Amino acid sequence: MGGINKDIKLIDENGKRIDGRSFNELRPIKIEAGVLERADGSAYIEWGNNKIIAAVYGPREVYPKHMQDPSRAVLRARYNMAAFSVDERKKPGPDRRSIELSLVISNALSSVVLLEQFPRTAIDVFIEVLQADAGTRIAGLTAASVALADAGIPMKDLIVGCAAGKVDNTVVLDLNKEEDNYGQADLPVAIIPRTKEIVLFQMDGDMTFDEVEMGLNMAIDAALKVYELQKDALRRKYINLAQEDEQQ
Ligand code: CDP
Repeated sequence: MGGINKDIKLIDENGKRIDGRSFNELRPIKIEAGVLERADGSAYIEWGNNKIIAAVYGPREVYPKHMQDPSRAVLRARYNMAAFSVDERKKPGPDRRSIELSLVISNALSSVVLLEQFPRTAIDVFIEVLQADAGTRIAGLTAASVALADAGIPMKDLIVGCAAGKVDNTVVLDLNKEEDNYGQADLPVAIIPRTKEIVLFQMDGDMTFDEVEMGLNMAIDAALKVYELQKDALRRKYINLAQEDEQQ
């Protein structure tokens, strides 16, 4: 959040944003399930200019052993940005931001996976951001939950989200990189769609209570649309598998 910048106009006189969207419009989104052979489950997402892969391994043995939990599986998500994913080369390896994002994503996913069914095991979720354009934590989480379902891991529901925010004093949906950099606030939200429980809620910048409420409602409505794309990706994967079986 760079704070309001008078030199950069993010919304024009017709109410259009720099990429031509209206205030409550999502970027184009494509999701594909089962893109990696080796992983137990995987998914690829393109969300605007974000390109992200998620891979799931497990339930499997826990190393180091002292991390085992006798009552449930431990779900460990690792969010990573490739060095080439942003304009300025990102230094490889974990930094404060990726450690924080890995934690909030692990917590969100742990709220839907039936961890008690797999005591003493680990479920590892890898999120690799290949190209970043703001909103990567939510896009990564959205792909990760499809990858968990693709791995056949029992879950109460998928997790899905969207960010809202504030640019040029207007509450908008799904900020892109310029809006994230030069806007006034970013509000990523993730939910369990069936119950609408909020499992990730963060804010960077300044918004009034009414603006937060409006942004939150917009983000939840949009997340429910993304949920349909997640289910569609999983359906497509299983239709393809069934067709391959028929041909054999
Ligand atoms: O990606 P998300 O919006 O969840 O997280 P953020 O910390 O608000 O980052 C917003 C965007 O800034 C990222 O998606 C990247 O496009 C960019 N960024 C970057 O260029 N270099 C970094 N080291 C971190 C973020």
